[in-house]
Amino acid sequence: MKTLVLNTLGKDYTEQITALIKDKEVEIVDTSDMKIVHCIGCNQCWLKTPGICAYKDDYEIILKKLVQADNLWIVSDTRFGFLDYKGKRLMDRIMPMLNMTIGFRDGWMRHELRYHPLNIGLLYKGDADQMMMEDWCKRTAVNIGGQSFGAIALQVKSEKCKVKSEAVVSLNNKLSHLVIINGSPRVAKFSNTDKIIHSFVKGLEGTGITWELHNLSNRKEWDAAREAFLSHERILIAFPLYVECIPSLMLEFLESLPSERRQPAQLSFLLHGGMDEGFEFRFCERILQGLPAQLGCRFGGTLIHGGSFGIRTREDAVKAKIVAPYEKMGRLFAQNGNFLTPEAKKFTGPEQYPWLVRKMVSLLFLKKVNKGFEDFAKSWGCTRPLDDKPYS
Ligand SMILES: Cc1cc2nc3c(=O)[nH]c(=O)nc-3n(C[C@H](O)[C@H](O)[C@H](O)COP(=O)(O)O)c2cc1C
Repeated sequence: MKTLVLNTLGKDYTEQITALIKDKEVEIVDTSDMKIVHCIGCNQCWLKTPGICAYKDDYEIILKKLVQADNLWIVSDTRFGFLDYKGKRLMDRIMPMLNMTIGFRDGWMRHELRYHPLNIGLLYKGDADQMMMEDWCKRTAVNIGGQSFGAIALQVKSEKCKVKSEAVVSLNNKLSHLVIINGSPRVAKFSNTDKIIHSFVKGLEGTGITWELHNLSNRKEWDAAREAFLSHERILIAFPLYVECIPSLMLEFLESLPSERRQPAQLSFLLHGGMDEGFEFRFCERILQGLPAQLGCRFGGTLIHGGSFGIRTREDAVKAKIVAPYEKMGRLFAQNGNFLTPEAKKFTGPEQYPWLVRKMVSLLFLKKVNKGFEDFAKSWGCTRPLDDKPYS
């Protein structure tokens, strides 16, 4: 059994890591000075050059090692009670280890494995909730077909960053202006979040509420997004689920914000993702509940909905139909100023499909979906099979 340890914390932690992971064949890779960019969801590793990431940075070295490994440990600092962006980025970039095609694995609808299962463990530093860390590890292990080794807290060598539990914030005004941040790493014109936001804001029309939009996929917009975040009372961050939680690019932006602010504020979230069922989003929802307090804001609730996978690839009429329900949610948000209402909660849809529906989905629907991926790949000029194994 080969064990790969990806250490984002640098050499200071090598001794602790070696003491904790006693497998026979262990390779510790110090990623702290590697050039690794965020996954931007371009889908080339699934549909154009299966198994090969479009970015030619140091993650390619890691990918080749992952293909040879049986066990993976991520060593990471934490922020907001979760992995920091450097740790999360290593998992967001793991997509080429999976295929685009989807199937049911152990009762979970998941992308099929390109190579073999990987067992996953987490060594973390900082003030995170042990149960949450364990939970994320379990969910991530399911994604890559392996077992979870669980999460182990490292002895901290620097000062602990305390997770704030609540922010007592009273707002001065009613909702009159909404700052919307698109947290998707995917360039805005191709982003499903963008289509969802544009339907949502239709619901604000005629209410007198004004809005502004900032896209984190464009770093040139970060300064303006930060300024808007700090100087307004109502903020909405809309983003796609990435490996069970917040995309690493958005985490990096959040980590760049100060924890104290000039204005009181309420922070709400619109969370969506490829998978349909509500339970897929619950881990991220729990992280989001505690996040506003870390930024000096009050929590304004999270609107959750799945099934957003291919919005951008559909014809305009179909696209409009898929995102239309968000307009109603925009109207509700205009009335209530938050997503803490029963209507917002109901919007998620079924927590889990009944057994028979899952069976039918797996027999009929997924076949069609997977065939659609193949056709799509051809239209992108892909010349390899979608389950190609370029590094084996
Ligand atoms: C790196 C990566 C990880 C993803 N992880 C998940 C996931 O854990 N669960 C899920 O339902 N969808 C997941 N998705 C799918 C996205 O949430 C979905 O495609 C979404 O519509 C993308 O929105 P965007 O186009 O605005 O980025 C993932 C996509 C990418 C690229």
